Amino acid sequence: MEATLLPLVTSEVVLISTKTTLPIEDKPTQVKVVDHLTAKYAAKRTIMLAAATNGSALPPSTSDPTSIEPTVDSSSLGSHPMITRAKASIFKTHHPANIGILGSSGLFYALLAFTKPKGFKSTTKNPTWVTLVRISAVIVLALVSIATVDAMNPRLSSNTLKFQAINCRKHSALLTEFGGVGDGVTSNTNAFRKAIEHLSTLAADGGAQLIVPPGKWLTGSFNLTSHFTLFIDKEAKILASQKESEWPLVEVLPSYGRGREAPGGRYNSLIFGTNLTDVVITGNNGTIHGQGSSWWEKFKKGELKVTRPHVIEIMYSDQIQISDLTLINSPFWCVHPIYSRNVIIQGLTILAPVTVPNTDGINPDSCSNIRIEDCYIVSGDDCIAIKSGWDQYGIKFGMPTEDLVIRRLTCISPDSAGIALGSEMSGGIRNVRIENVTAINTQSAVRIKTARGRGGFVKDIFVRRMFLSTMKYVFWMTGDYKSHADDKFDPSALPVIKNINYRDVVAENVNMSANLAGISGDPFTDICMSNVKIGLSKKPKKLQWNCTDVEGFSSDVDPPPCAPLAKAVKNGGCDFPEDKLPIENVELKSCSVEIPAF
Ligand SMILES: *[C@@H]1O[C@H](CO)[C@@H](O)[C@H](O)[C@H]1NC(C)=O
Ligand SMILES: *[C@@H]1O[C@H](CO)[C@@H](O)[C@H](O)[C@H]1NC(C)=O
Ligand SMILES: *[C@@H]1O[C@H](CO)[C@@H](O)[C@H](O)[C@H]1NC(C)=O
Ligand SMILES: *[C@@H]1O[C@H](CO)[C@@H](O)[C@H](O)[C@H]1NC(C)=O
Ligand SMILES: *[C@@H]1O[C@H](CO)[C@@H](O)[C@H](O)[C@H]1NC(C)=O
Ligand SMILES: *[C@@H]1O[C@H](CO)[C@@H](O)[C@H](O)[C@H]1NC(C)=O
Repeated sequence: MEATLLPLVTSEVVLISTKTTLPIEDKPTQVKVVDHLTAKYAAKRTIMLAAATNGSALPPSTSDPTSIEPTVDSSSLGSHPMITRAKASIFKTHHPANIGILGSSGLFYALLAFTKPKGFKSTTKNPTWVTLVRISAVIVLALVSIATVDAMNPRLSSNTLKFQAINCRKHSALLTEFGGVGDGVTSNTNAFRKAIEHLSTLAADGGAQLIVPPGKWLTGSFNLTSHFTLFIDKEAKILASQKESEWPLVEVLPSYGRGREAPGGRYNSLIFGTNLTDVVITGNNGTIHGQGSSWWEKFKKGELKVTRPHVIEIMYSDQIQISDLTLINSPFWCVHPIYSRNVIIQGLTILAPVTVPNTDGINPDSCSNIRIEDCYIVSGDDCIAIKSGWDQYGIKFGMPTEDLVIRRLTCISPDSAGIALGSEMSGGIRNVRIENVTAINTQSAVRIKTARGRGGFVKDIFVRRMFLSTMKYVFWMTGDYKSHADDKFDPSALPVIKNINYRDVVAENVNMSANLAGISGDPFTDICMSNVKIGLSKKPKKLQWNCTDVEGFSSDVDPPPCAPLAKAVKNGGCDFPEDKLPIENVELKSCSVEIPAF
């Protein structure tokens, strides 16, 4: 029995383990994501997270410096979405289409939880141990088969799939009705454009959904329309064309003044929308593959005169949902909502090689009322970067990112942040609530990046419940982030960084607790930290807290913080607002699509 179980375990290790090969379409660049967790470490973390999810006690700490002090309430740890999903599959609360995959993650976690940890004294011959593994394997297998049958039923019997959306549509069409060919070779750019042009005429009559059925759909850039749903089936893969002629140029963003990485223009994103209302991009974990490798190569060689495209960009729009998709190898930032409001982003798996720069996961930019939840991101740059325009252009445009909630994020980003605020923050960033973040092998957790000349502000930022493992820094603030649109910025335009709150943080295997550098003559103020336990790595930095031009409070922080933060927090803990943002109250409706049998 154990022999038959092993292959399943191996296939799931992909998501958290030591060596991950991304599923990549664009040969010949084979890119490997290497995350430095050892198998032992992964197993330990899994047990801890499983314990946290079950609400049971954490394993006792050992003398191993990477172990976590059990002083923080285990139930406050963020959980890996896969655990949440595995749990959901057992309690059947998740939407049915995903349960097949979930079942196997449940199996993975159950097995890991029962796998004898390295260093465990007893032998595999221990009869109690073997029985435990067998019993648990049988129970889990039974659950998996129930779950799998559930997942298959809708498709086999009626081909009807249910999904959750801000709005359902009256009309429905398949990409193949507009000449689409899903062979992975034929260009579908015209099929997408024709389909959406046609469906746009139905906007006032209950709206329409375009279904991308099973197959591989190569396409260049196309634009969305209002009151519209793009549904990408689980067995469908949209492949981004690598021909530059399939990517029209568009104007630079007014709040950036130029292309982000080249002064020329920028390419239209693969999926683009501007001036829209009520748009849904979703699927039952269908895939959009950005085929970024050719762009990365050209970028590295300095061959691009124009800024690389995003996978999805939505501009000047209201009521947007992007959910339940896997987005792979974006040429540039992956998901970029800008100048928009009422945005829900949930259930995205975003993967890019950790070695490629500027492949940020999700970048809310000059947006308001946004909810980002249950995302799993592996990136060569920030998993999420909150922005609002660049230097004098951003100051002039003056559109902040505000009222944003991010929850249940899992991030791997060895050279960047779990969540960055900035560095482009010239329109301001305020009222951001971040909860239940897991970051593994990530440079820093929630980082502030700014500079003289940026102007703007970052204020009223609330972070709670982070579980961090293998980090260079837990806290990082940078006041001299050197990247400017051009040399016409005004050095006297100083950013205001104020009221930044972090609480309930557990970290392990950390090199340096905090590197906090404000701006001289413009200190970052009201920085608050409470209930923070940092476990250091085997070779930690001697200087654990380097604080310049910052002021604030702390309580119950270990290792003890720098003097500028030593004042005790009033009321014991740092603030986290009790009220809800309007976007948190938006409930999704249950919609359906008919997918042809395949
Ligand atoms: C965060 O995690 C805790 C503990 O698992 C849970 O009680 C809480 O509901 C979670 N919060 C969110 C917003 O998911
Ligand atoms: C998509 O929208 C952009 C910006 O409005 C425009 O420049 C481009 O021509 C549009 N593409 C198509 C195919 O309509
Ligand atoms: C979209 O909206 C913006 C802001 O209101 C406006 O400046 C722009 O002209 C609009 N673009 C189109 C194509 O309608
Ligand atoms: C979606 O697909 C990705 C890639 O295959 C997988 O890693 C992830 O676990 C899937 N998510 C869900 C919710 O099934
Ligand atoms: C921590 O420091 C060690 C020794 O310098 C280094 O090898 C390791 O990569 C660092 N870890 C992180 C997460 O930066
Ligand atoms: C501490 O921070 C200051 C200001 O950023 C920097 O100049 C200095 O090199 C840092 N010291 C160490 C030991 O990292």
